Amino acid sequence: MNTQVCIIGGGPSGLLLSQLLHLKGIETVVLERQSREYVLSRIRAGVLEHGFAKLMREAQCGDRMEREGEIHDGFFIAHEGKMDRVDLHKYSGGNSVMVYGQTELTRDLYEARDRMKGIVIHNAEDVAPHDLKSDKPFVTYRVGSESKRIDCDFIIGADGFHGVSRKSIPAHVLKEYEKVYPFGWLGVLSRTKPVSPELIYAKHERGFALCSLRSQILSRYYIQVPLSDKVEEWSDEQFWDELKRRLPAEVAATLITGPTIEKSIAPLRSFVAEPMRYGNLFLAGDAAHIVPPTGARGLNTAGSDIHYLYQAMLAHYKNGDSTGLEQYSEKALTRVWKAQRFAWWMTTMLHNFPDTSEYDQKLKEVDLTYLFSSEAGQSSLAENYVGLPY
Ligand code: APR
Ligand code: PHB
Repeated sequence: MNTQVCIIGGGPSGLLLSQLLHLKGIETVVLERQSREYVLSRIRAGVLEHGFAKLMREAQCGDRMEREGEIHDGFFIAHEGKMDRVDLHKYSGGNSVMVYGQTELTRDLYEARDRMKGIVIHNAEDVAPHDLKSDKPFVTYRVGSESKRIDCDFIIGADGFHGVSRKSIPAHVLKEYEKVYPFGWLGVLSRTKPVSPELIYAKHERGFALCSLRSQILSRYYIQVPLSDKVEEWSDEQFWDELKRRLPAEVAATLITGPTIEKSIAPLRSFVAEPMRYGNLFLAGDAAHIVPPTGARGLNTAGSDIHYLYQAMLAHYKNGDSTGLEQYSEKALTRVWKAQRFAWWMTTMLHNFPDTSEYDQKLKEVDLTYLFSSEAGQSSLAENYVGLPY
């Protein structure tokens, strides 16, 4: 098979790029290791920057997001028993975020690909990119016992953190930066009314907690747990009790609990691989970088990669201008590192770290006191949370 752009990975990054390019008449094939059902069973985050929401509309995938997503103009930070609100709208010059689950967004992208008869090959095994430095790269894979090959102009590595793409860049070219946090998030989904119409990030001496939502009847809650904890050891009742302890009393008193419909523990990690281009292979999204979820940057940073790649591919195919492709890695990484800084700052400020000195503890407290006493501080938080410009 021949195509112009072969995309490895059918997560949000790969699907969004495929959809955007297809709309401009650029051919793509998406190779996904898993079945569609599997991809759509993964529960992921749910806060979209306005820039990401705009990309979804541009990809003609924004209708359900507009109908079912919620625009949020602010969120709360609970600390020392009180709630302070970050007014995103006021402090970001009128911007906001869209609360819409990544799982639903991925479903919309798959439906759009079907509608336009886009080629998405599921259960593709042993996917391998080849001849990355040549102008005729190709990808091999297997479906059942049948071996296949796709010849293309470019390969996009949008295959997540555990994918094959990043690993095909020679070790002497790739520099990896990593920070592993000494805790995880235990997350639950429950068919209950959210405790607050806006998100609450809670800093507490027992550990961080987050009250989020997918809709007015579907809540998503998280608590910080040690890495040694096992999800099976947490009953629903224990989870709700611990969450309540970490919230201000008046919030805890109104928390509606119920059976959880999903429960999992995710470790927190920061990771960046540089460069994001090797020959005709371009990395995007989780394949190149991971952030801890505290600042809701993960999917959104994948979104800026896709924006830069999309613009670069358009300029290349429509105007014969390859400057965007040449500059992709540098441009994407500049924004990636800003998101890394923001996620690290939010994570550090709001979580309990084992063995924190009293001095460091004081600094975290003053970070929040400063934030809510300073318009400049809140503007900085707001502009990062709604998304820095592309
Ligand atoms: N061959 C083909 N597909 C693969 C391979 C492989 N060797 N390895 C992984 N994949 C697929 C995975 O099954 C997955 O569906 O690539 C996809 C990658 O999707 P994600 O991990 O969701 O990554 P991405 O599309 O970049 O999404 C951005 O931001 O922080 C996050 O949670 C957030 O998942 C979100 C991400
Ligand atoms: C979520 O709703 O899953 C969520 C929201 C905000 C975050 C992280 C996760 O910062």
